[in-house]
Amino acid sequence: MRKNIVAGNWKMNLDYNEGLSLFSEVLNMVKDEATGAQEVVVCSPFIHLHSLAQLAKGNGRVSIGAQNAHQAESGAYTGEVSAKQIKSVGATYVILGHSERRQYFGETNQLLAQKTDTALANGLKPIFCIGETLQEREAGQHFNIIKTQLEEGVYHLDADKFAQLVLAYEPVWAIGTGVTATSEQAQEIHAFIRQELAAKYGQQVADDTTILYGGSCNAKNAPELFAQPDIDGGLIGGASLKSRDFTDIVKAFN
Ligand code: G3H
Repeated sequence: MRKNIVAGNWKMNLDYNEGLSLFSEVLNMVKDEATGAQEVVVCSPFIHLHSLAQLAKGNGRVSIGAQNAHQAESGAYTGEVSAKQIKSVGATYVILGHSERRQYFGETNQLLAQKTDTALANGLKPIFCIGETLQEREAGQHFNIIKTQLEEGVYHLDADKFAQLVLAYEPVWAIGTGVTATSEQAQEIHAFIRQELAAKYGQQVADDTTILYGGSCNAKNAPELFAQPDIDGGLIGGASLKSRDFTDIVKAFN
């Protein structure tokens, strides 16, 4: 049985104290209000990770994740942070391949394949992001783009390793724009991804893989999106910066 997950991606927002306050609010609200079996993940900037992991200690529901990790184990890579370092402060997840990393930092599917290997080797669970741009969708290329991102980014993994991944479908045109994919558009792609996974890894692995939707997901549209058969939760940007909004999205699974 696959897990339902609501993951927040704070991106490059919140100073140290702001992050701690928001996280404390989220912990309390989730404890008091979220009655389902959904897992909550908060992916913060590196500066918050250790403190958030301490606050979340002993909490079975809420996990911590980073937003990126370097592909090398360690070494002379000034300014970078390794998977081992992230794991050592108590984080369990890492977002890889977010479209902002692909767009602004030139991350390719090949590089992301290396990052995925290093993250897994260090015990982190990647939240691996895929999704097409508006131009690609308008050109009718979205299925091909997603297929290639999977093939080049993660299909080198054997089934056991692949089973540790969470996938996130984020159409680039829906990120931070207020334009959400309709539940039909999102479901269509999620079903396609699951069908691709079944062809590659077999039906059981496909059925067990959590596939999140991301892109202008909010408390209002989350219930309809999450009700789709192949949408197992969300990767939430802007709305994860407000405890009320984020908790209400988590509660879309109650
Ligand atoms: O990682 C999160 C996504 O980029 C979605 O961001 O909810 O602000 O559109 P958004």
